[in-house]
Amino acid sequence: MYDFEKTIDRAALDALKAVPFNPSQEGCIPLWVADMDFPAAPAIQEALVARMSTPSYGYTLCKDRYYSAVIDWMKRRHQWDVAKEWFVLTPGVVPAMAFAVRAVTTPGDKVMIQTPVYPQFAKMIQSNGATLVTNPLKLVDGRYEIDFEDFEQKVKDPALKLFFLCNPHNPVGRVWKRDELQRLADLCLEHDVIIFSDDIHHDFTYGDHQYTPIATLSPDVAARTISATSPSKTFSIASFKMGNIFIEEEELRQKYRKAVESAGVAELDLGAIEATIAGYTKGEAWFDEALKYIEGNSRYIERFIAERIPKVKTFAQEGTYLKWLDWRSFGMTDKELNEWALNEAKVWLSEGYAFGKEGSGFMRLNMTSRRAVIEEAMERLARAAERL
Ligand SMILES: Cc1ncc(COP(=O)(O)O)c(C=O)c1O
Repeated sequence: MYDFEKTIDRAALDALKAVPFNPSQEGCIPLWVADMDFPAAPAIQEALVARMSTPSYGYTLCKDRYYSAVIDWMKRRHQWDVAKEWFVLTPGVVPAMAFAVRAVTTPGDKVMIQTPVYPQFAKMIQSNGATLVTNPLKLVDGRYEIDFEDFEQKVKDPALKLFFLCNPHNPVGRVWKRDELQRLADLCLEHDVIIFSDDIHHDFTYGDHQYTPIATLSPDVAARTISATSPSKTFSIASFKMGNIFIEEEELRQKYRKAVESAGVAELDLGAIEATIAGYTKGEAWFDEALKYIEGNSRYIERFIAERIPKVKTFAQEGTYLKWLDWRSFGMTDKELNEWALNEAKVWLSEGYAFGKEGSGFMRLNMTSRRAVIEEAMERLARAAERL
């Protein structure tokens, strides 16, 4: 019913994903940053056009229609009962990370992440004065798992104040299971560590994989958790800049709100408000179709790689629209691998080592393009691999 095959010249629109930063990216198929190429849901376009046709663009409040749209989505899609009082609005989830570091830590305190992970985790921790601690994920029989022993060792450190969880996990594609989350939460509670859970990819889960918001495990866990959500990935509306941060415990919420306010952040962007409401209230059928389309792309890529580039290893796609690929058998350095992808295959992927040193030898592919574009990119990669 929706048209995911339609082409939009994104470079002409100055899209971050489509405009090369350096000459080697020119002529490459851009499958890097987590941003969809699909045209947005018609309901979002209609709502934006309708609102923008009234020429009044001053500071705008989020009223009940905004909160109800978010609350209803969380309940319907994730069986998560979120209360209006828990909300803190931020202009994105990356700023929400910075506010968490500022609210919970003082300079020199430690914050833990599970690498390989979205690079802004490390950046926001370090650039806001905290010390980074890593709990690398373990690859066990081709599946990423949490190293609980290492986590336990590190969480004991009295200087460790905050843990950044990514659920579903970008880039490895895991959707953390309830028992895994429970073990992490128990350890954080035992050692008085606050959890910042970045759940921005939570609408993208496949098959039987079920997203569990860590804050829903128990009232005790909820009291120590900052949950970060946004419709930006779900509906590809990231340029409007929005984040719905839920904090159940009042004292923690007030501390967090102070960090937000001290950065001068107040109302959301008008486009963010309208796009969020339209997406969450009228975009569900579009999203369900988009998810099926992406799942089809994922299966296609897995089959293609098994047949044509079998030296590359893939991982079960539990969640997110990002495919994590293991190229280590190519025996290239990270620089060589990236240059090979750009210069020989003419495909622009995200470099694995940017996600932490555990990502060395890996590259991440964004699957949210037309099937024909994905097919062409895979063909280019296979042909370049055959020439090696
Ligand atoms: C895990 C994760 N968090 C946050 C973001 C970006 O959030 P925002 O654009 O709302 O700042 C991304 C984007 O790729 C992401 O993958």
